[in-house]
Amino acid sequence: MTHSSFYYTPGLLVWHSKDLMNEPDSVYLFSYATPKDNGHSGLHFAWSADKKTWNLVGNEYGYVKCDYGEWGSQKQMNSPYLFQDPGGQWRCVWSLNGSLNQFAAVTSTNLIDWGRQRYPYLKQSQSFRQPVVRYNKAGKEYSIAFLSGDQYFRTTTKDFKVFTPAIPIPARKYKDDRTTVSLPAGPIAGTISKVPRQVVDRLTQFSLAKQHKADQAREESPKNDSIRFAGISSLTAAITLKPESRKPISDRLIGVFFEDINYAADGGLYAELLQNRDFEYTPADRKYHDSAWNSKNSWTANGVSFTIDSATPLHPNNPHYAVLDAASSGGALINSGYDGIPLKQGGEYELSLFARNADGKSTGLLVKLVAQDGSVLAQADIQIHTQQWQKYTTKLTAAADAPDARLELQMADAGRLLLDMVSLFPKNTFKGRSNGMRADLAETIAAIHPRFIRFPGGCVSHGDGLDNIYRWKNTVGPIEARKPQPNIWRYHQSVGLGFFEYFQYCEDIGAEPLPVIAAGVPCQNSSLTAKGGGQQGGLPMNEMGQYVQDILDLVEWANGPATSKWGKLRAEAGHPAPFHLKYIGIGNEDLISDIFEERFTMIYKAVRQQHPEITVIGTVGPFYEGTDYEQGWTLASKLKVPMVDEHYYESPGWFINNQDYYDHYDRTKPKVYLGEYASWGNTLFNALSEALYLTNLERNGDVVQMASYAPLLAREKHTQWNPDLIYFSNTEIRPTVNYEVQKLFGNNAGNEYLSSTVQLSGDNQAVRKRLGVSIVRDTINDIVFVKMVNLLPLATTVKLDLGDLAKHRQMEKSVLQGSPGDKAAPVTVTAAVPASNLLNETLPPYSLTVWRIHR
Ligand code: AHR
Repeated sequence: MTHSSFYYTPGLLVWHSKDLMNEPDSVYLFSYATPKDNGHSGLHFAWSADKKTWNLVGNEYGYVKCDYGEWGSQKQMNSPYLFQDPGGQWRCVWSLNGSLNQFAAVTSTNLIDWGRQRYPYLKQSQSFRQPVVRYNKAGKEYSIAFLSGDQYFRTTTKDFKVFTPAIPIPARKYKDDRTTVSLPAGPIAGTISKVPRQVVDRLTQFSLAKQHKADQAREESPKNDSIRFAGISSLTAAITLKPESRKPISDRLIGVFFEDINYAADGGLYAELLQNRDFEYTPADRKYHDSAWNSKNSWTANGVSFTIDSATPLHPNNPHYAVLDAASSGGALINSGYDGIPLKQGGEYELSLFARNADGKSTGLLVKLVAQDGSVLAQADIQIHTQQWQKYTTKLTAAADAPDARLELQMADAGRLLLDMVSLFPKNTFKGRSNGMRADLAETIAAIHPRFIRFPGGCVSHGDGLDNIYRWKNTVGPIEARKPQPNIWRYHQSVGLGFFEYFQYCEDIGAEPLPVIAAGVPCQNSSLTAKGGGQQGGLPMNEMGQYVQDILDLVEWANGPATSKWGKLRAEAGHPAPFHLKYIGIGNEDLISDIFEERFTMIYKAVRQQHPEITVIGTVGPFYEGTDYEQGWTLASKLKVPMVDEHYYESPGWFINNQDYYDHYDRTKPKVYLGEYASWGNTLFNALSEALYLTNLERNGDVVQMASYAPLLAREKHTQWNPDLIYFSNTEIRPTVNYEVQKLFGNNAGNEYLSSTVQLSGDNQAVRKRLGVSIVRDTINDIVFVKMVNLLPLATTVKLDLGDLAKHRQMEKSVLQGSPGDKAAPVTVTAAVPASNLLNETLPPYSLTVWRIHR
């Protein structure tokens, strides 16, 4: 490969020419991706004055990273080709993984801010490797030559958005002008551009700033605290209320984000005790199609032939069922539940199943709950007496506790039985609802006093490819008619916990329902094998009309009169009154692509026009910065979307160092729903960094309307994501310290923010950012809440003159405190005492204190 010139435009920042390299203020910029990591770390730069000695730019920071396909195996940037076009824009194209007939193209004005990545298809070629770009001045277009198998092809474009069909070209027309240079990591091929020295300076500064922020965040570790704060023996914080600068804030700040991840729904909040009750598990539920994961999963047979059939299903949405053939009585079909079936002595359980016999001869089925030691803890008889599918139910009462029992369906007669939708629920579900929720988990969530519940995801909402987009209509109606589907988190989604159950639960606990609907595009991390995976997919526009209608139908289903088409369905499910839906999220941290924009805009405009009463929440990518964040905000502002959903998972240090994140937000732009956030851990230090951040969210409660920690639930030993807010097993609930923080904020929330200033003795920045203060008032119930977070290793004396706020009032105090590494810490609540106007107290080290001041 040699470096050859292909265009030169005077006045531009760069030219690919050997002749004009003697400018004193110009250097060579080498751009490359590291083949060793398949380009996962993105586009890097090195610079040289003489093309011999190369210096890395920045700290190996990837200035743009590939966002195509799944995490882990994909998101590859192979053979990037970077150049500057005659208009001064930097363009970069690269090969995705060498075997796709797609490639990536992206544009930047300054090599720091990058626009949308596009992944055009080149149908005529098989694959796309080693792109080389040329500019044709006469035609004002670019040609991209590339390798596909052992054949060369070319496509052309004028704007890097629309590309002509690829055509084969002779080998002699392809010339790879990449240069191989020696870098510390070894020889690497890339493209060289000549740039003014300042370009390298800016790239370096940018990288250093990034590095500085990362170092700053890393420093905020409790491991360093005893040394960092060693010089401080005592600390006093004088807090002055500024009642004149009070402002209304959102009264819905604290909510929860429920997603069926970590077995949060099936095997979790959904109280169903049997696994694979519908015989619909399929290898496709699992990554790489696990053949062991099939219709028989969680079922075994003993002394009876057990096969699966789909010839005459109970419902087309639920095609598979079990066929039992017994030559004599006594054989049984056994279900092992989720890590066993937990039973409580005296507890009542409701078994239901659909069955038919093969020959019209009444056949007996003995239903048993059996402990591990073989003892039968409950049993009942069912006579299957028809050849048609029919539902049978029976009640069972457990004779003893058992953490991991099993269900046995024992044939009492020889013959053939067909079974489907075999279900076992505790009678004691949350609020006794049928098809209900596990009471202890539902109560634990309710105890946060969430003002809203977002569901069904997360990534579950937009799914793994187009066929996996969550469709609410598949999740309502009789459970046997619902349409199960693979869960993007790689297990089965029965949708027994469907939209009706979510709405019902919201109503039961006084939370606003916040359904999140895909924007007509699947998850940007969809597997390449999924339909429309790898992000290029979006529902075909001829399907979007119906898709939009489905969303409008959801509003009617939730809010319409019982006489309306969709409202009737809700009424038939047992809820004639409307659910009063106010919010709909459209999209989930999607890649803001052209495909997304087209579909989002269509949905948004239709909902706004038909239902101006609904607050639509847009989406601005998975991070607190970057291309999707910027593009998402630009789109939302352009469309005047009322609110956007931000997501970020960061270190505690990030939360400590970015407390002013929303202080600078433009108050005239869309409001914010911080739909997913968490620091990376379940220690007290993590929880308090979140508490600290929450005091800042309260201060910015005029912008940030809602916030939800994510994810909410995790079944122990079945997690796909950590940390989570509440861990559980079959028999236990283990709320985290992060949960205690959410609960304290949820139960002590106001709708008015009272400003204050903090004056520290021996003030210094490192100390100041470890203290959080927020004073809010619930004007409806006339309660003042004072919250203080002390993330320092030393006690801090606080003095606050409450003035009239304390007059004739009582005050209680709740304190969460412990060692920074604690994974559990008690919240102590002090009984009410008469409030004094001068709050003069000591905040323990590593603590959150909440005062509730009321009449
Ligand atoms: O909360 C877990 C996942 O994180 C969500 O599904 C997704 O939206 C985000 O990437």
